[in-house]
Amino acid sequence: GDYNGALRPQIHYSPPIDFMNDPNGMFLDANGTYHLYYQYNPTDIVAGNQHWGHATSRDLYTWENQKIAIYPGAEGEGIFSGSAVIDVNNTSGFFPNQTNGVVAMYTLNTAQEEVQDIAYSTDGGYTFTKYASNPVISINSTQFRDPKVLWYAPTKSWVAVISYAQDFVIGIFTSPNLTNWTHASNFSHAGLLGLQYECPNLVSLPMLKNASLAEPLDPANFASTDEMYILQISINPGAPQGGSISQYFPGTFNGTHFTTADAATRLTDFGKDNYAGQFFYNIPATSPQISIAWASNWEYAQLVPTGPLEDFRSFMTIPRLNVLANTTRSEYTLLSYPYPYSSLYTTPTPLANSSTLANTSILYDYSTTIPSGALSFSMNITSIPVANTTGTANFTFLSSITGEYVRGGVFLNGGNGGDTPVWLDRSHTYGFSNPFFTDKFSTSLWRDPDTQDFRLLGVLDRSILEVFVSNGERAGTMTFFPQGVLDTVILGTNDLNPGVQVSVELYGLRSTWA
Ligand code: FRU
Repeated sequence: GDYNGALRPQIHYSPPIDFMNDPNGMFLDANGTYHLYYQYNPTDIVAGNQHWGHATSRDLYTWENQKIAIYPGAEGEGIFSGSAVIDVNNTSGFFPNQTNGVVAMYTLNTAQEEVQDIAYSTDGGYTFTKYASNPVISINSTQFRDPKVLWYAPTKSWVAVISYAQDFVIGIFTSPNLTNWTHASNFSHAGLLGLQYECPNLVSLPMLKNASLAEPLDPANFASTDEMYILQISINPGAPQGGSISQYFPGTFNGTHFTTADAATRLTDFGKDNYAGQFFYNIPATSPQISIAWASNWEYAQLVPTGPLEDFRSFMTIPRLNVLANTTRSEYTLLSYPYPYSSLYTTPTPLANSSTLANTSILYDYSTTIPSGALSFSMNITSIPVANTTGTANFTFLSSITGEYVRGGVFLNGGNGGDTPVWLDRSHTYGFSNPFFTDKFSTSLWRDPDTQDFRLLGVLDRSILEVFVSNGERAGTMTFFPQGVLDTVILGTNDLNPGVQVSVELYGLRSTWA
């Protein structure tokens, strides 16, 4: 693949050519290599003829494309979404004298049915052999898919969550050996239904001891005794903003049953381009869990521009670290924060920064200093006291060639009880438009009156912007397709009242594909 095209993200994963959707089978191996598989049609730039593509990385940003890992066996078959685990103890019997055997569990889709199959790899996840006695779960349904497997240590069992998509049910299955599965319970009709449930994930997340800590990802802040799970369920179509989106439910899991902590529905991302996210297998349980999602939406994924140099469609989000925290006025909030990327900084100190940006802005032309077009920016807002805060902080990335831009910002409505609305806008990019390519996105969060500090962190990468607000209490993913390269950034503030301090930083990121 040619990764130089103007729309091709430079620190995000995208397939060499052709069509990609959901991340699949993600795991960390014992040598420290991360494996990403993905729904892949190697013969077209729309979905269909689904395979498992494969890529590997040591740092989750620098990816090496590998050979296709799992192929359909016959015309009309699709290797649909699923997951992978390392069978360290050889529970399956596939791996005598081996501790690094990998088992993938996925949905085999045909016109007649969707069943759950497995395939095993004795070379650490590069090549797979399909199990001779597939399927391992079959219920005579055409809408039964996306197994995500975890290891439940207290009962020494494998657990799979699988979607009965059009019944709005997530089935929980258990197995001693990955081949014989028993239905244990159902979790159903929770949250947003949309028209289908897809891609469930059940994962244990560390709880933060103190959500007001400035740096949530310091391992010292995790309470290892207070283990919680989330069940994440993607819905498509029928998201509130249209098309596909993911939601999560915090709760407890006892090996067979998942019980929600409350009746609330929480969205994983406030944008429209974050779907079918999956959590890596084999990340230590006391660490933040790492996720990657597909940065697109089924409403337009198969219609967006394919890039001038190479016909490919879709990118993944950057890897995110995830923990749970009790935040102001909301318990069990998912905090999602970028997996660290400071190794990609083009300079040790920021390319542009300002420690006090009071009712002014900095304009920085990055056309020559950041040839990748990938950058990171942050806006730190310190207000004393929060209740008196007024004003806005804003960012704009524009093309000096075409005048196109994407932008966003934060309203500091301290007087309204700390309500802090955040917005994103892609309406002024002209490479793609469509009734479903929603222009603007917003969210709100309550700022802790005692914490005062507030941070917005963003990663811009040619045709995708991801923002992380208030230590990841809200995350927003937005793709866009400009006709001209974005090369200028404006970071600014308006109407700040005295006492509000805004400092900004801008770092260039080097391409991991160059
Ligand atoms: C979600 C999904 C899954 C399915 C896969 C097929 O985007 O529809 O439910 O397994 O894509 O590519």
